[in-house]
Amino acid sequence: MATATRPRADRPPHRSVLLRTGDILRQVAAYGFGSLLERGERWRSKSKVSPEKTGGESRWVRVRLLLESLGPTFVKMGQMFSNRPDLLPEELLIELRKLQDKVPGFSFDLVKAVLEDHYGRPLDEVFVSFEEVPAASASVAQVHLARLADGRRVAVKVLRPGIESLVATDLEILAHVGPWFERLILRSDVLDTRAIIQEFSRNLMKELDFRQEALHLERFGVLFAGDQEILVPKVHHSLSGSRVLVMDFVDGLHPLDWAGYARVGLDRKEVAGRGVRLLLKQIFIHGFFHADPHPGNLIIVPDGRICFLDFGLMGQLPSRHREKLEQMLLAVSQGNPTALAAALLSLGNQGIPADPQAFEDDVEALLAGVSHVPLHRIDVTDFLEQAVSLLLTHRLSLPSNLYLLVKALLTIEGFGRMLDPDFDLVSVLEPFLKASMASRMDPLKAGSRGADSLLGYLSLAADLPAEIRSTLQQVRQGRLKLEFQGDDLEKILHKADKISNRLAFSLIVTGGLLASSLALQSKIPPLWNDIPVIAIVGFMGSFLLGFALLISIWRSGRF
Ligand SMILES: Nc1ncnc2c1ncn2[C@@H]1O[C@H](COP(=O)(O)OP(=O)(O)O)[C@@H](O)[C@H]1O
Ligand SMILES: [Mg+2]
Repeated sequence: MATATRPRADRPPHRSVLLRTGDILRQVAAYGFGSLLERGERWRSKSKVSPEKTGGESRWVRVRLLLESLGPTFVKMGQMFSNRPDLLPEELLIELRKLQDKVPGFSFDLVKAVLEDHYGRPLDEVFVSFEEVPAASASVAQVHLARLADGRRVAVKVLRPGIESLVATDLEILAHVGPWFERLILRSDVLDTRAIIQEFSRNLMKELDFRQEALHLERFGVLFAGDQEILVPKVHHSLSGSRVLVMDFVDGLHPLDWAGYARVGLDRKEVAGRGVRLLLKQIFIHGFFHADPHPGNLIIVPDGRICFLDFGLMGQLPSRHREKLEQMLLAVSQGNPTALAAALLSLGNQGIPADPQAFEDDVEALLAGVSHVPLHRIDVTDFLEQAVSLLLTHRLSLPSNLYLLVKALLTIEGFGRMLDPDFDLVSVLEPFLKASMASRMDPLKAGSRGADSLLGYLSLAADLPAEIRSTLQQVRQGRLKLEFQGDDLEKILHKADKISNRLAFSLIVTGGLLASSLALQSKIPPLWNDIPVIAIVGFMGSFLLGFALLISIWRSGRF
């Protein structure tokens, strides 16, 4: 089996970058944004519309059409920015959310070529049957159904040929136009566009490597082993590689297939709740979540289980972020602006706002908007979006995994609403919050966690009001417990052992030298050339020991 993968071009050739740049500029002009290129005008200003491809559409619609025509890199870029109300105008966001990669599928001949190149043998030796018409196709990949010799039905996901070099070229161009893009479009000067584009590039290149997706799927399978609500398809590793992913075919319904639900006797509302609960489990329990759970990436199995597909991009939520997110939602449910301000701040990347008082006032206003609404009627995703926007206003930014999280929550809430118009996220969220609250009340757990989060607040003590200060008081009064990580302690003990051994060693050497010097003064027989043999032996022994000690110190690099 050929498992070797061709080396990926890190930097695309200069010529293809130039050609592609020309192509992009032509399309930018064709969609009516030519004047932007000529005069570097602001995005919002009136641009002359060339009649060719604009068809009288609004500027924002044209942006979407342009991105779609530019291909997968730009479509993904647009999708990534579609949940950044803090950066882009609302009209543009609405359009970006409609972005689709509408490209014709690639031919079966190409599919066959990619697969035979990968397997190193004819396709019919690998699969007993292979459906030539794709089950689905998008700009990055195409999925075909096939059957293995043992009768298993599998889904074969094939990477579009040439996509890697196209994306690499586009990313190279994007890296150059990033600063221009920043000046032209983005509202905020807080963000480091270069860093955003770098992260985007890294993620996108990873998405183009199906080995990554296979790993994600496998990890997901382990995390959800034994869960009766989810189905995680098995990956066939021996048949998969960087350009091919083979997994068990999942036979089920499209999530919006109402007639199908009636046929197999499933209740839409239950499915909605289950889908959302599964995403919340991923976020709050495993800290590893599907970043794009839209209906196209879900299959409803007739027995009621839900299958997530498309694991190219996953979000990770480290436990400290998970905890702060919970604190934030708890603060909302308790209507406590101070706790909310503190939680928001501790979530942010950059510490303390320039004007903490104004920040707190804004948080209070944000909370006032929801404080009279019963918990189950709060629109959590809307609230999270506002909170993110508020952080940006105060020049604080969030770690990027949290943007992914907001996006995933928005997407799954949309899924819930499509299935059940009365769906409310909070009713599903509440049990998760209660469970986390209960574990926080657990004194053993609370003690060890308190250290991290309370210390985080110390720097804000001067500006935050009484409640937090009283908590700090408790910390100072000695209720703070620090916990050693077991393996750290092990290391420290090992070091201490080493230190004491070395000290003991050097004492023995010194003792030996002193004793030998004393023996030298005496005339204790036997003598050799008038020197007591015992002194000679003592000196040589001490010298050897001392030398060994020196070598060991020298080798450790600490002298
Ligand atoms: N294991 C599978 N079983 C059944 N259908 C699948 C499977 N994997 C993919 N598909 C179908 O192929 C489509 C595209 O797969 P996906 O992994 O989402 O690729 P893309 O990255 O192109 O969106 C899915 O929406 C689904 O209809
Ligand atoms: Mg998909």
